[in-house]
Amino acid sequence: MTAAKGELNLAFVKNFMWGAATSAYQLEGAAAEDGKGPSVWDTFSHMPGKIHQNETGDFACDHYHRFRDDIALMKEIGLKAYRFSISWPRILPEGTGRVNEAGLQFYETLIDELNSNGIIPFVTLFHWDYPAALQSLGGWLNPASPIWFRNYVQIIAKRFAGKVKYYFTLNEPQCFIGLGCGTGEHAPGLHLSPPELLTAVHHVLLAHGLAVKALREYGGDGLKIGIPQCGTIYIPASETQADAEAARKATLGAAQSPRQLLMGTALWSDPIFRGKYPSVLWKKHRDWMPKIEPNDMALISAPIDFYAQNVYSATPVRAEGDSWRAVPSPAGSPKNAMGWAVTPSCLYWGPKFLYEAYRKPVIISENGFCALDAMCLDGKIHDTNRINYERRHLLELRRAVEEGVDVPAYFYWSLMDNFEWSFGYSERFGLIYVDYQSQKRILKDSAHWYRDVILQNGKNL
Ligand code: FCB
Repeated sequence: MTAAKGELNLAFVKNFMWGAATSAYQLEGAAAEDGKGPSVWDTFSHMPGKIHQNETGDFACDHYHRFRDDIALMKEIGLKAYRFSISWPRILPEGTGRVNEAGLQFYETLIDELNSNGIIPFVTLFHWDYPAALQSLGGWLNPASPIWFRNYVQIIAKRFAGKVKYYFTLNEPQCFIGLGCGTGEHAPGLHLSPPELLTAVHHVLLAHGLAVKALREYGGDGLKIGIPQCGTIYIPASETQADAEAARKATLGAAQSPRQLLMGTALWSDPIFRGKYPSVLWKKHRDWMPKIEPNDMALISAPIDFYAQNVYSATPVRAEGDSWRAVPSPAGSPKNAMGWAVTPSCLYWGPKFLYEAYRKPVIISENGFCALDAMCLDGKIHDTNRINYERRHLLELRRAVEEGVDVPAYFYWSLMDNFEWSFGYSERFGLIYVDYQSQKRILKDSAHWYRDVILQNGKNL
């Protein structure tokens, strides 16, 4: 995975894995078909007023029935890798116990098709669609929750041994705990107290550690494992040494508020990669901390193979004495359709800070641009803003690689337009346009552009 010496100026390594990503609830549809149980997103999206225009993922992109055609489109784009997630309640309708063979069969066929088309499957074991049956037992607050997850992962590991080499454990704990259980703006819509949130954090980390163990034990030889996070990335407001150090401190260091702590990097990555919680927790919030058993930290920090980061945008900061201050974007700065600032250097500073801090190859497991794409009179989707976003971000990623940051893979979010959580179908992230009424797919200009980038391994950026 590491670029050989002397090869560094060639930028992306020879077998760089150019990919695209999706997640089960966001595109599969077939929400109650073939024995699938409900997830917290099924229940939440059916509560009036929770989602933009009360939309749901009931049908989404109907990928459950159209995955073969979708793989043909991946092939047309020339993807080397495809990141998707397995719906836990499709495998275990009640979250534990009874296994739904039809669910396993669906993913097995998908994986086989990908492999036979030369597209590397990157399997995310959990991407927010927690089994509703387990949520009613307390979800991540229940002390048994790490074991529930481990048992599910063991089933997957056994079934796909020899077929899947790359696994991601739990996507964006910052979001499913911070936004799902803290602010409650997404499923399951809870407003837990800080001590409850930290209990949930500890259970999620234990679930990750137990999943790593189960994968190594049952998933076959040579597995590569990571956990995609979305800790806020801060970038320097100017490229001075002082601002760069301020940005590093803000990205990796002690958070200025509990919300920043939950949505940040250190709370999750320090336990996983260093075997300890950030010291600020013990100094400032000792009374919030859960009970930690003697073996817990060793379990949580079981070695994994890469640092996976989802990054769309970053906050510019300026040095202020020993600390830092966020700098507002100037009027009229570029944004995506959800209002997230476009800050391309997040793909330089982000991987650089994370690589230097945690010493693992860095995979960009999600990065992309949402727009209000519309079909033009010529029947095409001319998404110039997305190409502009992509090009600028990939140039910054290449700059990081040229400076020696080990980056083996990049995943564009998303392969196709899909259900964007509580924003419903209002914005589009895809390389492929989806007409949800007819389920017709159209490759956007950006998909054709990405195809060339992949063909030339980024030399034409
Ligand atoms: C990430 C999620 C992904 C998608 C993108 C836009 O936070 O992991 O499912 O919603 O944002």
